Amino acid sequence: MIKLQDIAYVRSGVSNLAAAADFATRVVGLERMPESEPGVVHLRADHRHHSLALVEGPSGVIASGFTLADEDALTLAETELEQRGFTVARLDADAARSRRVRSGIAFDDPFGNRLELVSQQESVARPVTFSRGAGITEFGHLCLDAPDVHEAYRFWSDTFGARVSDWIGDNACLMRIDPVHHKLAVFRGDGPGLCHMNFQVQSIDDIFRNWHFLVDNGVEIEMGPGRHPQSTAIFIYFLGPEGFTYEYSFGVRRIEEDAAWVPRTFDPAELGSIDMWLGPTSRPVTQPQLGSPLPRSDSGVPA
Ligand SMILES: [Fe+2]
Repeated sequence: MIKLQDIAYVRSGVSNLAAAADFATRVVGLERMPESEPGVVHLRADHRHHSLALVEGPSGVIASGFTLADEDALTLAETELEQRGFTVARLDADAARSRRVRSGIAFDDPFGNRLELVSQQESVARPVTFSRGAGITEFGHLCLDAPDVHEAYRFWSDTFGARVSDWIGDNACLMRIDPVHHKLAVFRGDGPGLCHMNFQVQSIDDIFRNWHFLVDNGVEIEMGPGRHPQSTAIFIYFLGPEGFTYEYSFGVRRIEEDAAWVPRTFDPAELGSIDMWLGPTSRPVTQPQLGSPLPRSDSGVPA
């Protein structure tokens, strides 16, 4: 079993880097880190050097990153994944540097989502200089697509010990790797991709202030403001450039007594199962996974 320490980052390819970076800063409110690499914009939300990296090139998700405890855990994970039949590639030095990690490995989950496991993701000590006062407190969770969420849960549970917190029928599996109700979700989708990336905000006021800001700026609201009955989080989903869905949310449930929690199942067809305030619901737009082949393990994953 591989123990995930935390979510680390999303890396997304964009054909128009300037437009995507402008949206991530001016609209979402993330801090644009000083340029260190041509064609890559690092966006900061919390203690992490960055949670989102936009990479100039073909449009689509490049990878979703998770931290492991240390180098030994990474080496063990590499062996375990290979034993389970996955093709695993090491990040080369440039790729690790670009991700601000000491080292890492990449592999594709059974549904084609590229996952990266990394060690020693860099923290930045100074406070975040947000581009806009959206109230962001941290990178909250990421959501991937898979054709069968039950199969996806089997993979995440068997491989990483992720625990299901709640099911939304056959449509979604919300999983925890720490006390947060979900740091990881899988939504049913035709192919691999990133369903959305979530940032937590400080208060319910931020949700509603952001809602007005987004509407005033002509941003497409996908869903919300509403409240998920599973996590009790108050949410708003909105669409960024190149099919990338962002979510702000506030008030996610914490499950402190792990053993006492019994996962529930909500029928998506029942009123209020997605939004207990009964607002209109729609499935967020997924940014498809880029189908880049993994390099041979001795050549390393390029930046
Ligand atoms: Fe979410």
